[in-house]
Amino acid sequence: MENKFTKNICCIGAGYVGGPTMSVIAYNCPEFIVNVVDINKQRINAWNSNDFSKLPIFEPGLEKIVKKCRDRNLFFSLKVEECISEADIIFISVNTPTKTKGIGAGFASDLKWIESSARQIAKFAKGHTIVVEKSTLPVKTAETIKLILNSSKQNNKINEDTHKKNFSIVSNPEFLAEGTAIEDLQNPDRVLIGGEDDYSIDVVSDIYKNWVDPDKIITTNLWSSELSKLVANAFLAQRISSINSISALCEITGANINEVAKAIGSDSRIGSKFLKAGPGFGGSCFKKDILNLVYLCRYYGLKEVGDYWEQVVDINQWQQRRISSLVIKNLFGTLSNKKLAVFGFSFKANTNDTRESPSINISKDLLQEGAKLSFYDPKVKEKQIVIEFDKSVEEIFINDTALKAAEGADAIIVLTEWEEFNYLDWKKIFDVMRKPAWVFDARVYLDKENLKNIGFKVWSLGT
Ligand code: NAD
Ligand code: UGA
Repeated sequence: MENKFTKNICCIGAGYVGGPTMSVIAYNCPEFIVNVVDINKQRINAWNSNDFSKLPIFEPGLEKIVKKCRDRNLFFSLKVEECISEADIIFISVNTPTKTKGIGAGFASDLKWIESSARQIAKFAKGHTIVVEKSTLPVKTAETIKLILNSSKQNNKINEDTHKKNFSIVSNPEFLAEGTAIEDLQNPDRVLIGGEDDYSIDVVSDIYKNWVDPDKIITTNLWSSELSKLVANAFLAQRISSINSISALCEITGANINEVAKAIGSDSRIGSKFLKAGPGFGGSCFKKDILNLVYLCRYYGLKEVGDYWEQVVDINQWQQRRISSLVIKNLFGTLSNKKLAVFGFSFKANTNDTRESPSINISKDLLQEGAKLSFYDPKVKEKQIVIEFDKSVEEIFINDTALKAAEGADAIIVLTEWEEFNYLDWKKIFDVMRKPAWVFDARVYLDKENLKNIGFKVWSLGT
């Protein structure tokens, strides 16, 4: 069956990056076969579900692409060994979370999934294989992967296949953002490809040239590519911490954070993106990637550089604590016997991902003060919310509408900028709440004057 395909691509890891990225490659390159493999059976079953609304990841546009390509040239399976052995190009797209124990705990990336992928490739790959780092990795990881791949000849029984086996390694970090993954993949600002040999760089570039303007393909050496990914995330997160730090100053001085962001963002040297103040950045990557950068700086003896970047994470945590404290202060200094409705649990709108969501830390602070929390999120499932809290916590209620969440509540805290929050019947919501009824808008998203006119007491971040 594979014979009709001109290239065989395998991707290890069917997560938020592997799934959408490979779907877009399969969509744009019908002449390639794309096998996405994972060890997580539940995830693979969900990718193969006949009900396309049950795909494991919610991304606008993803369903349409998977519908078109799945079982045509895009396959999701648990057949890790088989798919590795058939592939010309293998993308490694596994998770690289922060280490929780051992050397570098709390900062360095845990590379155990990268190592196990590399070992599997070393064992099962045949002939010449291009191994592509798609995961975000500490600079110099390619060195480790190369060592593992090249030691395969010592580990395996030497036969004809082993002799023919050889590897090239390429770094091709992913810059997609969740919620806009398909748009970002279809129209990327750039595609970054770092490598050591022109042939492999060209092979990977040729995949993207099927739909990306060649001028947008940047090629570098391996280390620049690996490092650029960490630095890109650090710069993006730094802008958020910068604007959030100024949001506090706005609240004291009477300036308005949205006006300040617009005024400074109109300077083309600054630019308008990533200047939206809020409850701090969440998501699986910003914090982990900055902490990894901090670790690397310190490892290489650059203490001041590490300290500088760590501040970006510190301000993020400070902003979340600041918001919880403000809520408590405005509700007369105590939350015991009070019900608070939390609107939004995903780390940003248009995704069901809750990893490192600001809602988690802020909710924990409020629970500690004795609050009962009533959640509503249009895309996050009940079990995803419950799992974030201690089993013994009973003061958590999950609702399927915003109105139900607000029933009897003293306050609503808006933590995710879901578009539908703008179109809720706020008058009806006001009517079902206990008075004085508060709205704490940590996303500076709602129409403050309208809410005030209805009768709400309103706190809006940075205003
Ligand atoms: P994820 O946790 O959603 O998916 C990773 C998948 O890899 C999991 O399903 C896991 O079961 C699988 N896996 C782990 N080890 C495996 C093995 N040995 N064999 C087969 N499967 C294995 O992670 P993600 O969000 O897709 O992130 C992957 C990488 O991409 C990370 O390095 C991350 O930093 C980076 N990244 C993520 C995003 C994002 O938006 N989530 C964006 C850019 C880059
Ligand atoms: C981010 C980067 O934008 C991607 O380029 C990168 O590929 C990805 O991390 C990664 O490496 O994982 P993502 O985390 O999906 O993407 O989403 P963002 O849109 O960057 O938002 C991150 C967090 O920052 C969210 O909590 C969001 O609400 C917050 N944010 C973003 C703000 O508070 N203000 C802004 O102006 C922008």
